[in-house]
Amino acid sequence: MSEPTIEVYENEDRTFAPSAEFTAQANTNDRSLYEEAEADYEAFWARQARELLTWDQDFTEILDWQLPFAKWFADGKLNVSANCLDRHVDAGLGDKVAYYWEGEPGDKITLTYAQLLTEVKKFANVMKGLGLEKGDRVAIYMPMILELPIAMLACTRIGVAHSVIFGGFSADAIVDRCVDADAKLIITADAGYRRGAPALLKPTVDAALEIGAPSVENVIVANRCDTDPAMTEGRDHWWHELMAAASDDCPAEPMDAEQLLYLLYTSGTTAKPKGIMHTTGGYLTQVAFTHKYVFDLKPETDIYWCAADIGWVTGHSYIVYGPLANGCTSVMYEGTPDTPGKDRLWDIAERYGVTQLYTAPTAIRMFMKWGTQEVEKHDLSKLRVLGTVGEPINPEAWMWYHEHIGGENTPIVDTWWQTETGANMITPLPGVTTTKPGSATHPIPGVFMELVDDAGNTVETGGGYLTISRPWPSMLRGIWGNEERYRETYWSTYEGKYFAGDGAKLDDDGYLWLLGRVDDVMNVSGHRISTTEVESALVDHPAVAEAAVVGGTDDITGQAIIGYVILRGTHEASVALGDEIREHVGVKLGKIARPKTVIIVPDLPKTRSGKIMRRLLRDVADGNKLGDTTTLADPAVVAAIADGAASSDED
Ligand code: PRX
Repeated sequence: MSEPTIEVYENEDRTFAPSAEFTAQANTNDRSLYEEAEADYEAFWARQARELLTWDQDFTEILDWQLPFAKWFADGKLNVSANCLDRHVDAGLGDKVAYYWEGEPGDKITLTYAQLLTEVKKFANVMKGLGLEKGDRVAIYMPMILELPIAMLACTRIGVAHSVIFGGFSADAIVDRCVDADAKLIITADAGYRRGAPALLKPTVDAALEIGAPSVENVIVANRCDTDPAMTEGRDHWWHELMAAASDDCPAEPMDAEQLLYLLYTSGTTAKPKGIMHTTGGYLTQVAFTHKYVFDLKPETDIYWCAADIGWVTGHSYIVYGPLANGCTSVMYEGTPDTPGKDRLWDIAERYGVTQLYTAPTAIRMFMKWGTQEVEKHDLSKLRVLGTVGEPINPEAWMWYHEHIGGENTPIVDTWWQTETGANMITPLPGVTTTKPGSATHPIPGVFMELVDDAGNTVETGGGYLTISRPWPSMLRGIWGNEERYRETYWSTYEGKYFAGDGAKLDDDGYLWLLGRVDDVMNVSGHRISTTEVESALVDHPAVAEAAVVGGTDDITGQAIIGYVILRGTHEASVALGDEIREHVGVKLGKIARPKTVIIVPDLPKTRSGKIMRRLLRDVADGNKLGDTTTLADPAVVAAIADGAASSDED
């Protein structure tokens, strides 16, 4: 890594202060939380842990930090499912809705806190009946149905750690994860609805078990789509049959604060995914805190919706644990945003009166491409906070979100965090922070970050590598079964600091601008240029709907900027337009950032989780001898992208 010299960068100078009306009612509206945390961050988190959670046994020690191993609230005891369910029911909120669930075909279930608690107790007994014990691991491979949070919460009730595997993953991915974690049980469904048809899951589990995951003794199958899967006698059990026989008496067992809560596998720079470990007390403290303050949650009145998939960390923290710990009512949706129409999300948001929406920039750019007419069919005036997560948001997408979804008066919280961080780390607080389109602004109270250069020196303004300089409650506790890899991946680059793998820039006002993974930063003729910035400049051109930039290989300059673009509705692809788009970037960011090639394509290859498959785009660029020019939707390029997308499991 050379020193990040992000020269081609212009500050975005639009600012958006929270309205007086919003500030007046906000959960926090001044700097007091920041000041409190700066004065004594351990005491700050201890206060949050005690105020936001209910402990069976209070803790006497806040933080035990043996770099890089942290223990938070170690001698305290609590149960996650009791914090998410029992205490709300005990407080008389049993009839309150936990989830308004909507299936893709339009079927609906309203599940109250009391009902959810009963289901969780029964399913915990089902698992006990199959021999699961505290300390065991189970894999969960499910669509977005209510059985998924029920299964997760049931695990937490009895001290079993779950490993949720995203429903789009392959049999091989299931095998790797089950073998690595020694999972005893897989909980799945026959299928889930996607784009109007069942997407089968159980046959993939069968294929995985055929390849071999010897630790798996049982499979529990929820019947979602009536696809009549093959069931292996003695190994496979129907969810509804086991539940019909299960008792609903199952007290929550107090757990040590450092009891393993879950594993979530995430890919890194090597082929083998890492099992990120999260534990009980610190994790729940930070997800509850951020959910309350970042989304300005008012549990009495809000209808909150995180439109992610529970298969990713966003769903763990902000569909299941944060919202339930805070006793709020959530919407949960099974399917895709374009089924049956491209206004599905806005239709759901209007019908339930959604007050907070949390989604990803890639989705926002897709909605931009689909056009504002889809949004204008619906009344979105109840929305009060808009969230974004997962990748840097370009100012154009931010502005579109602000204008067309937020009606120009809804705060946007651009939340930076990772599977490893467990909860939001850098984000505006909507009643406090003046935002700038495209900047995640500042670390939350109690989180301390530093930008550093190659040598680890602190960078006050300009580009650098993002590090976290003090432990935080929801931090990963390690990589399952691989202490060395944990040290090596996160703690060996800069002494005493967690290396996030992201590049960022601090502007003159102290705002953080995330620039993407360091490995997505291109180096052209010795100049470091962020793919994100070039993408932002490309989509800033009025004819461009979406763009992806990769560093192709170039004999002379090392890397060359290759921009793939999708045109907006009525624009015709032409060499002249492509050249104009290239020039636009040159003007916007400087000549050095002008793409060598702009390729106009009908579509961009995305992973099942919605991330652009950059590696594939790089391979296509490298394999197609692209000139210093504009290339129209060359059939060879389009075919290479389609083939690569169909066969790749890059995720
Ligand atoms: O590069 C950052 C990007 O997503 C990475 C973490 O990915 P994952 O573990 O899959 O978690 C995604 C959901 C939390 C980070 O290293 N990232 C996430 N949020 C943002 C972001 N980049 C810029 N801005 C964000 N708001």
